[in-house]
Amino acid sequence: MGFGITETILRDAHQSLIATRMTTEQMLPAVELLDKVGYHSLECWGGATFDSCLRFLNEDPWERLRKIRAAAKNTKLQMLFRGQNILGYRHYADDVVSYFVEKSIANGIDILRIFDALNDPRNLKTAIEATIREKGHVQACICYTISPVHSTESYVKLAKQLEEMGANSICIKDMAGLLLPYTAADLVKALKETVKIPIQLHMHYTAGTASMAYLKAIEAGVDVVDCALSPLALGTSQPATEPIVKTFEGTQYDCGLDLAKINEAKNYFLPLRQEYLKSGLMDAKSMGVDVNTLLYQVPGGMLSNLISQLKQAGKDDKFYEVLEEVPRVREDAGYPPLVTPTSQIVGTQAVMNVICGERYKQVTKEFRGLVRGEYGKTPAKISDDFRKKIIGDEKPITHRPADSIKHELDRFRGEIKDLMVQDEDVLSYALFDKVALKFFEHRKAQLYKMDPSRSDVEAKVTTV
Ligand code: CO
Repeated sequence: MGFGITETILRDAHQSLIATRMTTEQMLPAVELLDKVGYHSLECWGGATFDSCLRFLNEDPWERLRKIRAAAKNTKLQMLFRGQNILGYRHYADDVVSYFVEKSIANGIDILRIFDALNDPRNLKTAIEATIREKGHVQACICYTISPVHSTESYVKLAKQLEEMGANSICIKDMAGLLLPYTAADLVKALKETVKIPIQLHMHYTAGTASMAYLKAIEAGVDVVDCALSPLALGTSQPATEPIVKTFEGTQYDCGLDLAKINEAKNYFLPLRQEYLKSGLMDAKSMGVDVNTLLYQVPGGMLSNLISQLKQAGKDDKFYEVLEEVPRVREDAGYPPLVTPTSQIVGTQAVMNVICGERYKQVTKEFRGLVRGEYGKTPAKISDDFRKKIIGDEKPITHRPADSIKHELDRFRGEIKDLMVQDEDVLSYALFDKVALKFFEHRKAQLYKMDPSRSDVEAKVTTV
């Protein structure tokens, strides 16, 4: 009974190690090589890739997806989708969520891995229903964390609920690399006994334990694991693909992938790795084992954010105080798993508590929102006293947060009708308004340069 591998080098691996800066041009020669390997899927879109395309690379993320789709004829394409946040940082109206799902699938995505930072199933509902409607594969996530209210039993219960909502598979999403090998074995075993759909495991190597956890999870019957080719593996990225394949070769768990073909793809990425190291995009700091992750249960990406926030405030010496403050803030806020956007919300509040020298003297708008229920139901109930301290007499939200957001698509369409060259543009604008506008202007200039007779773009070349 073999297992499958999702290759993450086109999404999470470069998001984790080189700030999501791999370009489409760098990807495309690899896609045909990756397509020959026989992976379960290629994770290649969503997460931060969409933002990075528009903000830093002057690329249309939709065009990237279409190009990858055209080059990967045999392999399923997979994306990461933040539930009601889509790929942004706030809750969007249901019409935007559904349309985003529809267009993702129309442009080539097969599998949508859908998660919510609070594990609140109500925030997954619209995305799951839209994926089912568009005949995509729903992979619903359990965001893995450790707290007094999280246990194998609570995860199994959540998985069962996600299966009932129509999920085609479940992903244990361990963004911080906290899942220890023997716990992984117990969790996978319990899930396999409870739900009928396949179980996939997603881990980061940050704590140095992930490939051991994969070993135990595979022995316990996990169906698919996420790996990255060695040039962009380990550290804050995924376990490396090659040793995982080799470890199980010839055993009852053999995944059946051909190392020679994998090696061809790896060889393509090796010079790119050298380039990223030389330019400083890839930093030795993100490549080691981070014991702070195990001690403080803080994801690797969050650690570097905390350091940069403290530097900006000229308070780098307070790093360990902040690390100790994070679990306290997390407890006050009902033990949210730390993943976008809760990792930023909890981290920033911890930094403020330490810098001000007094807890919650200053509270960010986002932290207030989290306590009020704007992001959904927290895993543990927030105490009435604490809530009152943070939001005063404001009324807490107990309904599904998106129920109070009116449909937004028509308004967005109206705002950019002069700049649209494809239906998908309204979605780029909905998520990243100013950044998308800047990209649209840039694109107009490029189109005009290529064909000055295009009167539709001529008038709009203004700011690039
Ligand atoms: Co990840």
